[in-house]
Amino acid sequence: MTDEDYPTDDPAVVTAGLPYANGDLHVGHLRSYVNADALTRGLRKLGQHAIYVSGSDMHGTPIAVNAAEEGVDPEEFALRHHEQYEATFPKFNVDFDQYGHTHEETNTELTKEFVRAWEANDHVHEKEIDVAYDPDADQWLPDRYVEGTCPYCGEHARGDECDEGCQRHLEPGEIEDPVSTLTGNPAEYRRREHKFLRLSDFQDHLKGFIERLEGTSNAQNQPREWIEGELQDLCITRDMDWGIDYPGESGEAANGSEDLVLYVWVDAPIEYVSTTKQYSERTGDLDWESVWKDGDGEIIHVIGRDIIQHHTVYWPSMLEGADYTEPRAVCATGFVNIDGKGLSTSKNRAIWAEEYLDEGFHPDLLRYYLATASGFERDVNFSWDQFAQRVNTELADAVGNFAYRALLFANRNFGGTPQDAELSDEVETEIAQAMDDYEDALNDYDLRTAGERAVALARFGNEYIQRNEPWKLDDEAAAPVIRDCVQLVKAVAVLLQPFLPEKTDDLWSQIGEDGNAADATVADCLQAPAAEFGEPEELFEKVEDERVAELDEKLEAKIEAASSEADDDGDVTDDEDDASTELEPLADDRISFEDFQDLDLRVGEVVSAEGIEGADDLARLEVDIGHEVRQVVAGIKQLHDLDALPGTKVVVVANMEQSELFGVESNGMVLAAGDDADLLTTHEDSEPGTKVL
Ligand code: MSP
Ligand code: ZN
Repeated sequence: MTDEDYPTDDPAVVTAGLPYANGDLHVGHLRSYVNADALTRGLRKLGQHAIYVSGSDMHGTPIAVNAAEEGVDPEEFALRHHEQYEATFPKFNVDFDQYGHTHEETNTELTKEFVRAWEANDHVHEKEIDVAYDPDADQWLPDRYVEGTCPYCGEHARGDECDEGCQRHLEPGEIEDPVSTLTGNPAEYRRREHKFLRLSDFQDHLKGFIERLEGTSNAQNQPREWIEGELQDLCITRDMDWGIDYPGESGEAANGSEDLVLYVWVDAPIEYVSTTKQYSERTGDLDWESVWKDGDGEIIHVIGRDIIQHHTVYWPSMLEGADYTEPRAVCATGFVNIDGKGLSTSKNRAIWAEEYLDEGFHPDLLRYYLATASGFERDVNFSWDQFAQRVNTELADAVGNFAYRALLFANRNFGGTPQDAELSDEVETEIAQAMDDYEDALNDYDLRTAGERAVALARFGNEYIQRNEPWKLDDEAAAPVIRDCVQLVKAVAVLLQPFLPEKTDDLWSQIGEDGNAADATVADCLQAPAAEFGEPEELFEKVEDERVAELDEKLEAKIEAASSEADDDGDVTDDEDDASTELEPLADDRISFEDFQDLDLRVGEVVSAEGIEGADDLARLEVDIGHEVRQVVAGIKQLHDLDALPGTKVVVVANMEQSELFGVESNGMVLAAGDDADLLTTHEDSEPGTKVL
C-alpha cells in the first residue's frame, strides 16, 4: 500500500461488501455494487491497474433461518441466490473480475489458514460465556435466533447487531431479555465454551491504521471510540451446523462438538482475499500474495455504512493477526431509504433490481443516479421524481442534447470532425481543467463530484455551441467551433464511462472511435477525435411526468401494503434497516420575529474537543464565543473526529439554560443537523461572538 496519488505502480483491488445469499437484490444493495464498479472503472481511467472482486455471503444465521423456513438445505438455498446474483449484476453493468462465494473451497481453506495463523500467533483463546438457549426447542440460539434489547442503547436488537438502534455489533450473551425466535419463548443463558480473537492485541495497530486509512470520513471517525476504548474479544465460533468448521487439531471441531462453526463475519471478509486469489490463479494478471501479504497493492473496500465496524475494527485485526497487510481505504456509502424508512425485504418496501429493469429503464440511468444522487456518505431517499429529474436535466438535457446537436452538425456539414481546424485554447483549457478536477475527485474517492464534473463539461459544451452559433456561420468559420464541440463530446464520453458504460460505448461509436470507451483513459480526452462518423442518435429519453406519477402510485401502494404489515414483528426474516432519515413534519405554529430574537445565537469557534468518559455520544467542547470561552456538551462524540474540530466555526445558542450531563456542566448549545449531527458553520470569516440572525 502507498499513500501516493492514483495511478500507482501497484495493482488496486476494489471490493464490495458481500451480499447475503438470502433474498433478491434491491436498489440499496446496488448502491454499493455500482459505486464500487464505477470506482474501479474510474481508477482505470486514471491509468491504474485495478480489479473488482466480491462474492456471495453464504453462511450465517439469516440464511440458515430462511432456508429452514422454506424447508430446504441451507447450501441449496444459498447457491440458488448466489446464481441469481451472478445473473443480475451484469444486467447493471456491474462487472466483477472475479465473483465467488464463501462456501467455495478456496475460501474454506483460506479461512482455516487464517484461524491457524491466529492460533500460532497466540491471538485466540477459549472462554466460558453465556449463550442463549431455547429449552423447548432444545437448541442453542446463535445470532438471528435470538432477539431482545440492546445493552448499549436500549433499542430492540436482533442477534448480533443492533440494527434498529446504535448499529453496534453485539457479542453472544450481550442481548438483554433474550427471546427465542424459534418458539417466541424467553431464552435462557447457559454457560458454554467458545473461541475468541483477542482484539486488544491489535489496539496499537488499529490506532495507527485509523490514522492512515483513506476513504470516507464516516469510516475514519465512527470507529475511533471503539478503537480508543477497551476492545472486547470477538467471539469467532457459533453453535450451529451451517458454516465453516472450526479447524481443530486433526480436523476435529473444537470443544469436541461437531456443531461448532466459525462466525460468519470470520469467513466473509476473507472472501475478499479468496476471490483475489482465484482471479490471480485464473488469469495470472496479478500476484494475490504480494497484494494481500506484502502490501504491494491498493486495497479499497466499498461497503454500506452499517458495516463500518466490521471493516475498520475486526477485519484489520484479522488481517494483522495472520500477518496480512491492511486496506488503504474504506468507503462507506449512506443508505438508500424509501419514504424516509429503511428498505425492508420482508415487507416489500423496496425497489428490486429486476423490478427496475422490468419498468424498461436503462441500467445506466440507475447507475448514474446511485453514484451521484447525494454525497457518497449521505443517505438517499429513493424517489422516482428525483430519479427523473437527474435523468432529464443532467443526462438528457446536458449530455444527450449537447452530443446530439454537436454531432449532427458535424456529420451534416463535415462528415465527421472538421479536419482543417485546430482545438481552441479556450476549450483545451476547459477540458484540461475537467480532467484535473476529475482526477482529484477520484483520488478523494468522490464519485459524485467526478460524475457531476463530466456533466458540467457537457453543460459548458451546450453553452459554447449556443454562444458561437455555428448555424449562422459558413463552413469555414463553423469548422473550428465544431472541431471544439466534437472534442468536448469525446471528453464527456471518456469521463462519464465509469458511470454509464453502455451509453458511453454507444456515444463512442457515434463519434467513430475504434474499440470502446472502457479502454480510453483520461488522457484521451484531448486526443484528436476521429475524422469520420455517421448521423448521431439520441442517447437518452426523458422520463415524462405521467410516468413518474404512475411509478409513484405503484410505490405508494407498496409502502401502504408494507406499513399495514408493519406491526407484524414476530417475523425473523424481517430485515428492516430502520436507520431512517424520515423528515420531521414541519411545525404548524408560526412564531413572531420577536420570539425568534429571544434566542441569542452566536458564532463560536471550537477551542478544544474531547470525549466524555462513560458517555457513548457526548463530547466536552470549549467554544470561544467572543465575550468568553464556554464549556458546552454536545452529542457528537462518534460522529466527528474530535481532534480535527478545534478551529471549526459553529453556531451556539448562547442563552440556553445551563445543565449537567454525565457530571459535566454544559453552558450553551451547539447547533447541528440531523442524526449525523452535521455541525452548522459559517461560510465567510465571521468573528466569534457575531450575532446570528
Ligand atoms: N454479508 C454482509 C457483508 C459481508 S462483507 C465481508 C452484508 N450483506 S447484505 O446483503 O446485508 O448487504 C450487502 C451490502 O449492501 C453491504 O455493503 C451493505 O452495507 C449494503 N446495503 C444493504 N442494504 C443497503 C441499503 N438499504 N442502502 C445502502 N447499502 C445497503 O451486510
Ligand atoms: Zn444499540
